[in-house]
Amino acid sequence: MEEALYVGLMSGTSVDAIDSALVCCHGEHVELLATREHEIPSRVRQQIADLSHPGADEIERLGPLDRELGRLFAAATLALIDQAAKRPEQVRAIGSHGQTIRHRPPSGGSGPRSFTLQLGDPNTIAEATGITTVADFRRRDIAAGGEGAPLAPAFHAAAFARQGVNRAIVNIGGIANASLLEGTELRMGFDTGPGNTLLDHWILRHRGLGFDRDGQWSSTGTVVAPLLAQLMQHPYFAMSGPRSSGKEAFNLGWLDECLRLHQDLEPGDVQATLAELTAATIALAISSAGIDVTEVYVCGGGAHNGDLMRRLQRHLVPAQLASTSAIGMDPDWVEAVTFAWLAHRSLAGLAGNAPAVTGAIGLRVLGGIYPG
Ligand SMILES: Nc1ncnc2c1ncn2[C@@H]1O[C@H](COP(=O)(O)OP(=O)(O)O)[C@@H](O)[C@H]1O
Ligand SMILES: [Mg+2]
Repeated sequence: MEEALYVGLMSGTSVDAIDSALVCCHGEHVELLATREHEIPSRVRQQIADLSHPGADEIERLGPLDRELGRLFAAATLALIDQAAKRPEQVRAIGSHGQTIRHRPPSGGSGPRSFTLQLGDPNTIAEATGITTVADFRRRDIAAGGEGAPLAPAFHAAAFARQGVNRAIVNIGGIANASLLEGTELRMGFDTGPGNTLLDHWILRHRGLGFDRDGQWSSTGTVVAPLLAQLMQHPYFAMSGPRSSGKEAFNLGWLDECLRLHQDLEPGDVQATLAELTAATIALAISSAGIDVTEVYVCGGGAHNGDLMRRLQRHLVPAQLASTSAIGMDPDWVEAVTFAWLAHRSLAGLAGNAPAVTGAIGLRVLGGIYPG
């Protein structure tokens, strides 16, 4: 495969920003050249939140939002290219994840009704940038019987696996996912459950803040053991095999249900319990995989949460915990780089999914290609 520039675009379940990364791909090698965080207007964030659960008149709301997100993704791309002093003609393709508004994978019990849906019209992105756009990566894997998620593990293996060392790469976004690498082999990957999403929503409700910076609030609370035990009863945590999750399963509605049995808790203690839930379920998923993991590297926004990282380290001892910057990639950009890499794979006619992770019946070239 020849060397080429790609832009990867990611907006995750946290809906905090559009992350964009300009990378140079050469075979399996990926070099990160420039990055940019593009703001999502609060009105658009609200529209995404509203469409993320069932409601009236969905098609009339979805259509314009799909176009508007396409325009935002295009603007994010052009600003990144400009910032990097490049021209759109120099970029081979954009890999756009899109904004997930619904994820109903087979592991959730939807059977033949399973689907996943990401918005951000790739026609609009290609039209506004003139750059070939690869998008809609997840649905081919679902069509092949897979979860459509997580897709990051194949990239984690390509970028971070090391002969003779067993590593876990953990992405803590709104939802968290982990990839287990035994030497250079990708053994397993799955969503572990909630990452930051419950922490974000709880601090917004009680303190009006978008997130718990560095886990300052959760670090002052005391874990409520009976509440933690009850949260851990969620059937998702007992599942094995291919599994993926979303805000459909882990949201304030579910938390409120659980809290009904625990009157008069201090909100700060609930926040500490939620941080502990994220750490405990990540550690549980890693330890139940049956691979002797000695190094764990974290990416995603959760890598900046000191309290969460300390909780995770306590659970993972004696394994070593660090952010992916220790292995050469800033934790904030791993996901955006993943989708640049996936676009590179798709254009080369190479598979992007890992059937051992998603449960798909085979390797598949992912995504639709929208010529520039
Ligand atoms: N300094 C920080 N301290 C604590 N949490 C942080 C910090 N920076 C980011 N986060 C958390 O990370 C989230 C964003 O992570 P990100 O990887 O972008 O997730 P997603 O892929 O879901 O968009 C924020 O919503 C917040 O919860
Ligand atoms: Mg984000």
